[in-house]
Amino acid sequence: MTGRGGAIDLFTARFGGEPDAIIRAPGRVNLIGEHTDYNDGFVLPMAIEQATWLALRSRDDRIVRLASEGHGDVDFSLDNLVRGIDGWAEYIKGVAWAKGAAQLRGWEGAITSDIPIGAGLSSSAALEIAGALAFTSASGQEWDPTASALVAQRAENEWVGVSCGIMDQLIIATAEAENAMLIDCRSLGLTPAPLPGDVAIVILDTGTRRELADSEYADRRSACERAAEAAGVSALRDLSIDDIAGLALATDETALRRARHVISENARTIDAASALEVGDVGHFGELMNDSHRSLRDDFEVSSDALDLMVDIASDLGGCLGARMTGAGFGGCAVALVRTNSAAQFVEEITHRYSTASSNEPHAYVTRAAAGANARQRGDRTT
Ligand code: GLA
Repeated sequence: MTGRGGAIDLFTARFGGEPDAIIRAPGRVNLIGEHTDYNDGFVLPMAIEQATWLALRSRDDRIVRLASEGHGDVDFSLDNLVRGIDGWAEYIKGVAWAKGAAQLRGWEGAITSDIPIGAGLSSSAALEIAGALAFTSASGQEWDPTASALVAQRAENEWVGVSCGIMDQLIIATAEAENAMLIDCRSLGLTPAPLPGDVAIVILDTGTRRELADSEYADRRSACERAAEAAGVSALRDLSIDDIAGLALATDETALRRARHVISENARTIDAASALEVGDVGHFGELMNDSHRSLRDDFEVSSDALDLMVDIASDLGGCLGARMTGAGFGGCAVALVRTNSAAQFVEEITHRYSTASSNEPHAYVTRAAAGANARQRGDRTT
């Protein structure tokens, strides 16, 4: 069982008694602005309804005891953090390390989640932010969402060893219900962008999981850095569409195409946020379609399954736009669909994709959820 109730039940079964706090950390879907965050650029993600839940009780010592649903249990001591032996618990340990373990108190916690793993919906960042909230709550610290997102990103970069940008952790920590969020990944400035009620966000899980994503991701990052260096700027964020012709003379063909994606994607993302502001969902959808083509052809992070899903989506009535979402190489696409067509869209795309592919799709409408939070026991507001 997942959700708040599932985490509480698991807590009582494993540790006895009741938790003193319940934490919710949502997954996220990125609407536009892909592979731009580590280029100091712009992203427009939102939190989704699927979430990781953590029921916890603080301890008087420095032991952390974790119980999970279906992924085993792990204990560790804050006095002896050892890297790399505990699978999923490394995300929590990494957060303890990045926060400064000396300042922290132990806790015991039960974790459940309905965010699919490896689908591009940020299950690991949700676990990191849940862990950050747990240490904050058990140690009597103040919750600072942006600082905690940076801590979680450092855990992922330096403890887990994945060189991700800031988007996932930051949106999970700061999201607002019914809004996407325009994030400036250089200043970490946050601008909520209300989603109009006449459109629905549909997650289109291709049933494939990303493969080789870490090495391909690192490869894309270094091509972007190469292009920025050739142009003499600290990040591709500093270039505009007009600079692309000049860049062609300064760098290799691969780096040029990677840079062309990032530079055009930054422009599309800002344009998309403005389109939302004036309720121009048609234009927003077109920008999503352009984003997919750029990720497919210039950045080369799509996959056959993602392309198939996006092609089918674009053909269906009521669909304003669709694109792959997240790092790529498998996982999910996202579509913007007229609310009154959404139910039929979900039914049709499931049917058509299943017929055209050997993979099992999962299409569902999601709402923009609030960011991560902790509630003390007895507080029933979540
Ligand atoms: C992953 C990373 C993010 C971001 C996206 C691509 O989700 O964790 O930081 O780079 O890929 O946009």
